[in-house]
Amino acid sequence: MFRKFAALVVLAAGVCSTVRCQTQPVDAEGHQWWQHAVFYEIYPRSFMDSNNDGIGDLNGIASKLDYLKSLGVDAIWLTPCYPSPQVDFGYDVSDYENIDPMYGTLADFDRLQQEAKKRGMRIIMDFVMNHSSDQHPWFIDSRSSRTSAKRDWYMWHDGKDSAEPNNWVSTFGGSAWTLDFKTGQYFYHYFYPQQPDLNWRNPAVKDAMFDVTRWWYKRGVAGFRLDAVDTLFEDRQLRNNPVLSGLNKFGDPNETDLYNTKLPEVHDVLRDLRKVADEHNAVLIGETWTKDVSELKQYYGDHSDELQMPMDFLFTKVDKVSPAEFRRQIAAVDSAGGWPVFVVSNHDIVRSYVRYGDARNNQAIAKLMASLYLTLRGTPIMYYGEEIGMQNTDPVRKEDVKDPIGRLGWPLEKGRDGERTPMQWDDSPNAGFTRGTPWLPVSPSYRTVNVSNELNDPASILNVYRNLLQLRHQSRALLDGDYVALNENDPNVLSYLRRYKDEAVLVVLNMSSNPQDVSFDLAPQGFPTKSARTLLTTAPASKESSLSHLLLQPFAVYIGTVSK
Ligand code: GLC
Ligand code: CA
Repeated sequence: MFRKFAALVVLAAGVCSTVRCQTQPVDAEGHQWWQHAVFYEIYPRSFMDSNNDGIGDLNGIASKLDYLKSLGVDAIWLTPCYPSPQVDFGYDVSDYENIDPMYGTLADFDRLQQEAKKRGMRIIMDFVMNHSSDQHPWFIDSRSSRTSAKRDWYMWHDGKDSAEPNNWVSTFGGSAWTLDFKTGQYFYHYFYPQQPDLNWRNPAVKDAMFDVTRWWYKRGVAGFRLDAVDTLFEDRQLRNNPVLSGLNKFGDPNETDLYNTKLPEVHDVLRDLRKVADEHNAVLIGETWTKDVSELKQYYGDHSDELQMPMDFLFTKVDKVSPAEFRRQIAAVDSAGGWPVFVVSNHDIVRSYVRYGDARNNQAIAKLMASLYLTLRGTPIMYYGEEIGMQNTDPVRKEDVKDPIGRLGWPLEKGRDGERTPMQWDDSPNAGFTRGTPWLPVSPSYRTVNVSNELNDPASILNVYRNLLQLRHQSRALLDGDYVALNENDPNVLSYLRRYKDEAVLVVLNMSSNPQDVSFDLAPQGFPTKSARTLLTTAPASKESSLSHLLLQPFAVYIGTVSK
C-alpha cells in the first residue's frame, strides 16, 4: 500500500514542477485527464446555427453535445468566439474576456460549459496571444500617440531610409510593417495589418494576457490551444531575414523567418504560462509548427514544464498514405519523450478526406486514417466533420472567397474556406445547419455525407469513428500501452502493437490498393499466440483471426487483441 502511494507521488511530481501545482492524476500511474481524452475542434461559425442568421453559435453547439458525447469526444476546443471584427474570422480579437454577440453571450457560454460538464466533457478555448485586433482598445490607445501609455504594448518602429524598418514579410502577404501616418511610425504584424503583434517583452502585456487565462480558468475552461506561439518574439535588432530565390503565393520574395519566429524567449513565456495552467489542472496545446523532433522536444520543455501537448503536424504533411513515412514519423514523435499529439486536419489545412484520398478509395482511406491516429499512443485532436468524411469545397470564383488570403493570393492561394464549410447534419436544405443563408455554401456532398445518414449505416465512416473511440476508451492498451512497430520492412502494410502488461492490441493497416496477406510472430514481444480476437475490422472477418495468414482487402483495417 505504502509503495503504491509513494509511486503515485513520484509520478505526479514528474508532471508538475511547482509547489502550487494542482494537477490531478486520473490513475495510479499518474496520467492526466488530457492524456486519456479525445479532443474535437469546433469552428463555431460552421458547426450549428441556432438562430438562423447563417452563422453557427454557442447555443447551436450546446444542442449537439449529445451527438459529441455519443461519438466519444471528451474535450471540445472552440476556435475563437470572442468579440472580433472578423477580418480573420475571430483570430483578430477585440476583447479577450467576452463572447461575440454573433455567437451568443457569456451566459450562453456558461450554459454550454455546464451542459458539457454534466456530460463529462471539458471545453478549451483558443488563446490568440501573438496579436490582437487593431480594434482592441489596447491598440486604439497605442496608435493614438507616441506618448500613449499603451504605445509599448505593440511593436512600433521608425522606418529606415524612408521605407519599412526591414524586409520581413507577413505570412498573409505584403510587408509585415504598416505605416501609421498620424504618428509616423510603423507597427509590426506577422499576419494581417488588422492583427498587430503584441509586444511580449513588455511585462505589462504579459501580465494582462496571463490574467486573461486566469479569467477563463475561473469560468471553468480546462485549458487553451495557443495560437501562433512560434511568432511571439522578434529579433531586438530587427535584422533582415535571409531571402531565398523565387516568389511566394502572394508575389512576395521567399524568406526564411529566421529573425521573427521561434525565438528562444518563447520558452520563457510558455514556462510561466504553464505554472498558471497547473494551478487549474488545465492543459496547454500549442500551435507549434515544429520542423522536426528536436524542435518538438523544446516545446515540451527541458523539465516537462512547457506545453503538455505541442501539436505535431507531421501527419498533415503526408498526402499519400505510406507505411514507411508514417512509421518514421511515429517513431520520431515517440522518441521525443513527451506525450504525443496527433492531428490530421484543422481549419487551416485541406481536409484529410481529400488530402490522403486517391479519388477512388477515399472512403476506405478515411477509415484507415482514423484507425491509425485514434489507436496510437498519444492524444488525438479531431476536426469537426472529419468523422463523416467531409471533403474540401473550395470556392471556384475569386468573388466568392471569404478568407482574405484567398482573395489576395488567388488563384494560387484559394484561402481556407474549403475546409470551413458548414457541418453536414442531415439531407434537409443546408444540411440542417441553418434555415437561413449559410455564411459559406454547404458542400453539395451533404445529400449523402451527413450525420443522420451515416448513423444508420453500420459501415459508414461515422460508425468506424464511433467504434474506434469506444474501443479506445475501454482499452488500457490503447490508452496507455507502448507503441511497438511490427513487420517494419513491409512496404504496404503498417502494423503495430499497443502493449500494456499482459494485454496488447494489434493494429494492421493495409495502405495499398492491393489485397495483402500478412503474418505475425509476436513471441519476441511476449505474446506467443497464433491468433487474435477481432475487435474491429473493415474487412469481413471472423471472431478469431489467424496470425499466420491475415488477409486484408485494399485499404482494409484489422484491429484485434492478443493475450499471453
Ligand atoms: C493560426 C490560426 C489561423 C489564423 C492565424 C492568425 O495559424 O490557426 O486560422 O489565421 O493563426 O491568428
Ligand atoms: Ca447564429
